[in-house]
Amino acid sequence: VLRLPGYPAPSIHSQRAYDPEENFTARWTRADALQLRAMSDPDAPAGENSMPPEYSMPEIPQDFPILTDPNGTQVWVWDTWTLTDAAADQISFKGWEVIFSLTADPNAGYTFDARHTHARLGFFYRKAGVPADERPANGGWIYGGHVFQDGAAGAIFEDQTFTTVTEWSGSTRLMEGNKLRLFYTAVAFYRNANDEDIKPADPRIVQTEGRLFADENGVWMTGFRDQHQLLVPDGTYYQTKEQNPFVNFRDPFTFEDPAHPGKTFMVFEGNTGGQRGAVTCTAADLGYREGDPYAEDPETVTANGANFQMANVGLAVAENKALTQWRFLPPILSGNCVNDQTERPQIYLQNGKYYLFTISHRSTFARGPGVDSADPRFWYMDGPDGVYGFVGNGIRSDFQPLNEGSGLALGNPTNLAFGVGTSAMPAEGQSPHTFQAYSHYVMPNGLVESFIDAIGNPDVRRGGTLAPTVHLSIAGTSAVVDRSYGDGGLGAYGDIPANEAQPVDPAP
Ligand code: FRU
Repeated sequence: VLRLPGYPAPSIHSQRAYDPEENFTARWTRADALQLRAMSDPDAPAGENSMPPEYSMPEIPQDFPILTDPNGTQVWVWDTWTLTDAAADQISFKGWEVIFSLTADPNAGYTFDARHTHARLGFFYRKAGVPADERPANGGWIYGGHVFQDGAAGAIFEDQTFTTVTEWSGSTRLMEGNKLRLFYTAVAFYRNANDEDIKPADPRIVQTEGRLFADENGVWMTGFRDQHQLLVPDGTYYQTKEQNPFVNFRDPFTFEDPAHPGKTFMVFEGNTGGQRGAVTCTAADLGYREGDPYAEDPETVTANGANFQMANVGLAVAENKALTQWRFLPPILSGNCVNDQTERPQIYLQNGKYYLFTISHRSTFARGPGVDSADPRFWYMDGPDGVYGFVGNGIRSDFQPLNEGSGLALGNPTNLAFGVGTSAMPAEGQSPHTFQAYSHYVMPNGLVESFIDAIGNPDVRRGGTLAPTVHLSIAGTSAVVDRSYGDGGLGAYGDIPANEAQPVDPAP
């Protein structure tokens, strides 16, 4: 078996906090990400997970239950979130739990992989406070339908010649009374009859206000008619669609920071500003310690094309109480020359520490044309699909990647010695669970929800439904799977509980 000659030490990160307005961006470096390969067992047999079990999601069986509408017809769901308050607590409303999901129709003639250009925000509800083992196998979620009227998300685009506008992730704040502020990504696509872009897709971060209602029979919503455009990339901190037609700019998540009372912040997925391919990899992006014998040099890494992968986690601050006006701040994390996507970022507070969690893919790690061999042992940057975590002393800090300096918090079982393939057809020798779940979201008390994408290899069963919840034990710089939770570490399907109730009759 061919192996890298050895592995560098991870970068040194102090966790030191900076003012949110300061121009300091923590780096998930190549030295950090190489710890992922360092912890992969090169002798793991074909079809088996090569990553440490403590950082791997337990295997989901292929006979999982699915979510349906009240007629029993499947509704495809993927990215999912709850009602939250300013502290990211999950709130039940008048005795109901409410979740929001990206949804698509499995019977509309396109595949699950084509869902992204058909995504609509949907919602589900179920009675709060029922123990998981007393619920139906699929979690007992009742489908409430689309959140918006057809076409509502298209209103903000000056160029109305789009072929579709999709509603992407996503977070929902329950404000005073029954007011909802829904933050989401509207993306306009301009395509030809062959489904090719004739103009780059146009992603924008948007807020819309609605009202939530419930009685003993269920939950419903009204409003969401006025769309407030909040942010479009500035080209300096955050790459624009003109700089990169494949730009990633989406997934707003808002919260208040107890260290900065009275302000509301937002984290989101971005890419480092600048023309695609023109920004070079720096020594700081590589992050090797002085004299490390396994260090690479920035020129070679750039020449190999790693600078086409430039993820960041953005930060913005609200300028008004209605949260309709926002100002960009410098990104809080970059993954320059490491990975192109740090998606659905969230801030999770525990014991005075600030955890930044974000999801990413194996296929978006930096490889570049110069190292584009079909053999993953030459890829350098590599790691499983899953959720990555970083810890610091503030929302802007010199974040330290969790778990041996790698950043991996919870990955799908994956064998890094074998190729990726696709959800529909994983590579030969790959674990049947390498695409089992995605879009992991860390809930209060370390519970993690996600959706099932594809299980099996080569006989794949596609998901589009909620995965079993798992529990991460998070402490200091470590996050490990709690295999005593549920059935060998797998809790109930779609178990997304509220951890607080909104008072039904708030005091006057
Ligand atoms: C994650 C994701 C999000 C995006 C959505 C689009 O699964 O890529 O970043 O909002 O899916 O479908």
